[in-house]
Amino acid sequence: MPEPILKVDSVTKCFGGLTAVNNVSFQVQPGEIVGLLGPNGAGKTTLFNVISGYYAPTSGSITFKGQDISGKQPYTLATHGIGRTFQVVKPFAGLSVLENVVIASFLRYPKRADAERHAWQILESTGLADRANLSAASLTLAGRKRLEIGKALALEPSFLLLDEVVAGLNPTEADRTVELILQLKQQGMTILIVEHIMRVIMNISDRLVVLNFGEKIAEGAAAEVAKNPLVIEAYLGEAAA
Ligand SMILES: Nc1ncnc2c1ncn2[C@@H]1O[C@H](COP(=O)(O)OP(=O)(O)OP(=O)(O)O)[C@@H](O)[C@H]1O
Ligand SMILES: [Mg+2]
Repeated sequence: MPEPILKVDSVTKCFGGLTAVNNVSFQVQPGEIVGLLGPNGAGKTTLFNVISGYYAPTSGSITFKGQDISGKQPYTLATHGIGRTFQVVKPFAGLSVLENVVIASFLRYPKRADAERHAWQILESTGLADRANLSAASLTLAGRKRLEIGKALALEPSFLLLDEVVAGLNPTEADRTVELILQLKQQGMTILIVEHIMRVIMNISDRLVVLNFGEKIAEGAAAEVAKNPLVIEAYLGEAAA
């Protein structure tokens, strides 16, 4: 087994008296797509925020490419190769689509011309080039979600955290995003993805990790996890299990 790219070791994150993530451990291997599942409020976004440095863990540790990154700042983690999208999309609304991506491209390309050239490549590969000069605020939800992916990719990450980039899209747009994610995997990207749409998560994930009330309740291949009584209960209530 190769060295995991990400190790989450007994991570807990509390907000005052609320334990949003409770003693969660799992690993991600290079090149894998791991789906992070769980009902609303299960702690998925909080765990993303801990992995990407927006929150320090209350306890436990995160190891990325063999290095302890617990509590490091998001900017530092971006330079290490961790890219992420936000569940609530956050473009710089006053800027154009291109400018939004250029800002992220500056991380690797400090010269404006290089950053712009790189940003154009990202817009081409994410299907946004035709909207490059529009205000980011004018994009549809599908466009804004795509821009989230573009901004993350502009950091040239080796590991990508995708938080509900498909939810809310129509089936055609959803298929295009799935296609993009699978292309990224083919190019060697490692991905941890949160998504509520079962058709999507079951099809693209190599493995699933399931949270409920902050705790990991299951982990494994999609077919196995889908049969797990704890998972069925978490999603459908006790009666179904
Ligand atoms: N900054 C915060 N301060 C206080 N409580 C928070 C904060 N962020 C999240 N929580 C709480 O932590 C719990 C987990 O929330 P989180 O957003 O991680 O869930 P989620 O699994 O991403 O849910 P969803 O599927 O609805 O996006 C919830 O009870 C939420 O209210
Ligand atoms: Mg969430």
